[in-house]
Amino acid sequence: MRFDRYDMLPGVELPVGYTLHTLAERGEDDWIEALNATGELGEWDRARAREWLEAAPPGSSAADRPVVPEGSFIIVFDGRAVATTCIVAPTESEPCAEVGWVSVSPDHQGRGLGFQAALAALLYAKRMGYPESRLNTDDWRLPAIKTYLNLGFEPVIEHETHPRRWKDVFDALGIPGPIRRAL
Ligand SMILES: CC(C)(COP(=O)(O)OP(=O)(O)OC[C@H]1O[C@@H](n2cnc3c(N)ncnc32)[C@H](O)[C@@H]1OP(=O)(O)O)[C@@H](O)C(=O)NCCC(=O)NCCS
Repeated sequence: MRFDRYDMLPGVELPVGYTLHTLAERGEDDWIEALNATGELGEWDRARAREWLEAAPPGSSAADRPVVPEGSFIIVFDGRAVATTCIVAPTESEPCAEVGWVSVSPDHQGRGLGFQAALAALLYAKRMGYPESRLNTDDWRLPAIKTYLNLGFEPVIEHETHPRRWKDVFDALGIPGPIRRAL
């Protein structure tokens, strides 16, 4: 999905009791806690986190661009890291920022914290003047896709299966025809 409507972004608004912090402020252990909270983003430990926080050597399967700790966010409740979203900065060869690893602990889902954490990352992208942000997701991650659509992300159609798969996603989300701009 792609996003460039930085002009449309509201400010971050969290429910009472929740506070927003950068990954730089909270550190990798809180990030790991938030990433592991759902079990749906693979298993995270310090080694994996560091692969993403440090530029990987060329040809490595790990991130070739590191996550930006100042542009990645952790939402805290009662001292615990309960939600996160991170961002990877654009480079000369890859001009789009990448928003990723959106996660909300199951006990705290249903309050739009994924939206707020991703919004914080997009506001950072806006402050940095990044021209476009992109993300990768999966067809079955409906709460995530709804969150991204709510933020203003739109589908990128670049494979022959994409129109049909997006139709299925929009059907599953009950989103009517006129909003299906990219199809
Ligand atoms: C994606 C995720 C962060 C969203 O958590 P959240 O912020 O608590 O999300 P909410 O429950 O507030 O729901 C977000 C939106 O999805 C909708 N939604 C929730 N569950 C849904 C479902 N099963 N089917 C369709 N829509 C759903 C909600 O109605 C809401 O949309 P709305 O605000 O327009 O009503 C959370 O589900 C998660 O951590 N998932 C596992 C990790 C993951 O898949 N990350 C994305 C990787 S690309």
